[in-house]
This record gives sequence, structure tokens and C-alpha cells, in this order.
Amino acid sequence: MKVLVIGGGGREHALVWSLSKSNKIKGIYCCPGNAGIAELAKCVDVAVDDFEALIDFAKYEWIECTIVGPEVPLARGIVDAFQREGLNIVGPQKRAAMLESSKSFAKDFLRSYKIPTAEYKVFSYHVHAKEYIRLKGAPIVVKADGLAAGKGVFVALTETEAFEAVDYIMNERAFGEAGDKVIIEECLFGKEASFMVFTDGNTVMPMVSSQDYKRIYENDKGPNTGGMGAYSPVHFITPEMEDTIMSTIMVPAIAGMKKEGINYKGVLYAGLMIKNGKPYVLEFNCRFGDPEAQAVLMRLDTDLLDIAMAINEERLHELEVKWKDGASVCVVLASKGYPGGYEAQKTITGLEDAAKEQDVMVFHSGTAFSGSSVVSSSGRVLCVGAYGADIHTAKLLAYRAIEKIQFDNKYFRRDIGKM
Ligand code: AMP
Ligand code: GLY
Repeated sequence: MKVLVIGGGGREHALVWSLSKSNKIKGIYCCPGNAGIAELAKCVDVAVDDFEALIDFAKYEWIECTIVGPEVPLARGIVDAFQREGLNIVGPQKRAAMLESSKSFAKDFLRSYKIPTAEYKVFSYHVHAKEYIRLKGAPIVVKADGLAAGKGVFVALTETEAFEAVDYIMNERAFGEAGDKVIIEECLFGKEASFMVFTDGNTVMPMVSSQDYKRIYENDKGPNTGGMGAYSPVHFITPEMEDTIMSTIMVPAIAGMKKEGINYKGVLYAGLMIKNGKPYVLEFNCRFGDPEAQAVLMRLDTDLLDIAMAINEERLHELEVKWKDGASVCVVLASKGYPGGYEAQKTITGLEDAAKEQDVMVFHSGTAFSGSSVVSSSGRVLCVGAYGADIHTAKLLAYRAIEKIQFDNKYFRRDIGKM
């Protein structure tokens, strides 16, 4: 079978790597891919939102299964577009992807189906948003309604910070039309975790738990990023907590979508805050997290293609998805300056040395070829993952591998997986 993966980051590298272990696949393609993915798949330089070109490519190459990594094509309806052409694609349709592409839709949905989440109000006029902030006081959370690559959320410790966030989103239009509306939300305190499920719209199958490090600096300081590292499993997501997450959040969410006439298929990701032993939804994503995918897929012990096909054919209940015991730790190597401005095109050395380490995988997030060299091409450059008997072992392996990789302005957090 020929498979196409859409995207070109660390998550897609992990998807391609996982698929490459399947003995049912005779060709893996990736659009657009990156320098690391190119070792396992044929990379084709087509943008993730150029649906016409992607569909032409899938038909021309007789692709039998397409898997979508990032949120932007899902939010723009890539699944609907492929399905209209009779092509097999795994992921939620545009209306289902609104759980991520519109935070106001997601919050209203959560409220309708009584799924625990922070108290909130949605505003399309900045003056009213600020009045509400004054009424509620700080700390308070300000969120852009639409997609903002993980950067549209501001946890404001003072009212002034909250006003500034509203201005940044609504008046300075930092995220364009994603800032037409803002959500002002109660600030929850607790422990955060990421929880993802596979679903075919009927069966909801949990993945192992993971945790993302969203802030740029150690000890969770500084602005939010797309994610600076992840590990799996999370010690406070006990089997009992997992049952609670499934029964109070994931299963009601998929059932709720069905009641709305939406058959949600693919991966559903919940960003959770566990407060006083109870899980609350901070956000939904309609796809694998990045870097959570890298951490979780390092522990997957079932053929990912089998899962993808079972989702599409709505027979996920027939499958037993297995996970490796032990733990994984993934550390993102970024360009210094990210999530603000940074320099790219830096030559990366030591990749082969690092990859030789046992139980280590160097996932490429933003790399490209410059002649025969591999260079950085975006804010998040690499994601070094390691698998071990426990978090401590995995962490040691990951950080040891990182030391072998060099590029100018390499920046990473040293506290990923620290308990
Ligand atoms: P989100 O993209 O909605 O997951 O938000 C990014 C980060 O902001 C989360 O991982 C949390 O650390 C923080 N956050 C979001 N919503 C809240 C909330 N209601 N209370 C406290 N922190 C939050
Ligand atoms: N790491 C969080 C996300 O992928 O949205």
C-alpha cells in the first residue's frame, strides 16, 4: 500500500517513522516533509493547504491512505476535499475540526454537553471584553478564538496584562482574523497533561498519557510556544484518572459531536488541567500534538497503518492497540529567539552520531537541505526522543544525544521530564 503523510514537522516525522515499521506499506510519501523525513519517505514539495495539488498527487501516485498531521489543512477542510474525490484520508472533517479551529465553538460545545471546563465568556468587541475582565479581576486567561499556532493564549496575572492581551489580539490583530473574537476564561490552577484518543466516531480508544512543556524557558517561564518537549506516561494520570477522563470528557465529546450530526474520525486531543482530582478541558486539538506525538508514538506497539485503516473503515472496536511499558522523553531543540524572531539556515552537525544511540530517535521539526548539509529552517528545529525503562533513563538518553548535535543558536530546555 502507498501512504501519504501531510505536513513537515516533528509530528509528521514521527508519523512517517511509525508507518515505516509497517510491513504492509510499499511506499511512503510526505508533502512537504523535511530533511529528516526524506530518509524514510519521498518528500514532495506541495504546501499542506494546496488541496488541488495534493489531490492530483494522491491520484497520480495511487495513494491508498492519507494521514494529516497539522491543524491548518484540517480546519480548511482537506478531509472533505479528499473524500469528495473518493480518496481515503484519516482525520476529522472541517465541521469536526472546529473543536480546534474555533475556541468559542469548542467552549459552547463543552458547556452544552456538560463536559468540565473553565467558566468563560466570548466577546467580539474589545471594550466589552475589558469590562468583563474588570468585573472578574486577575488572574484571568485571554484567548484568541481562531488558530494561532499555540501562541494565542495569555495567562494574565494582572488586569493590565489582560487588557494588553485583548489589545494585542483584537486591535493589533496579531493573529489576523483568528482575533475577531476573544474568550475570557477563568484561570484554573492544577497539573496539566495531554490526553489523546483514536476514534472512528463510535469507538474511542485512549492513547498513553503525555505532558507538553508549553513555555519557552525552564520552570515554565516566558511566552507560550508550540511545545518545547514532552514525556509519556504522566505519573498523575493513574488508571483511575484515565477512566475519569474517558468517561467525563473523551467519550461524551465524541458522542456529543455525533448528536450534532458530526462523525468525528481521527485523533482528538484534550489539553487538561487536573484540579482537585478532577480533569477540566483547557483546549481541544483535532490532531496529534507536537511534540506529544513523538513521545506517544515512541511507545506505540501496534501498526499505525492498521489503526488508520480501522478508523476509516469504522471498525476500531476490532483492534487492540498495544503500548510499550516504560517511558519516553522528547526534547525540542529550537532556534534561539523562538517564539519571537530568530535566525535560520544554520548548519546542523552530529545528527548521525546522535541517531546511532540505542533507543534514540532524532525527529526533524524544521530542517532543510542546503547542498549536502542539513540546515535549520524554522523556530523548532529538532525533537530528540528517547525511550527507556523509566522517565529517568529516557531523559538521560535524550540529553546525552542532544550533546552530540550542534548548530549555532541551538536552544533547549534542560528540565523536560523533571518531576
Ligand atoms: P491552550 O492552547 O488553550 O491549551 O492554552 C495554552 C496554555 O495556557 C495551557 O497549556 C495552559 O498552560 C494555559 N491555559 C489555558 N487555559 C487556561 C486556564 N483556563 N487556566 C489556566 N491556564 C490556562
Ligand atoms: N503541543 C501542543 C500542540 O500540539 O498543540
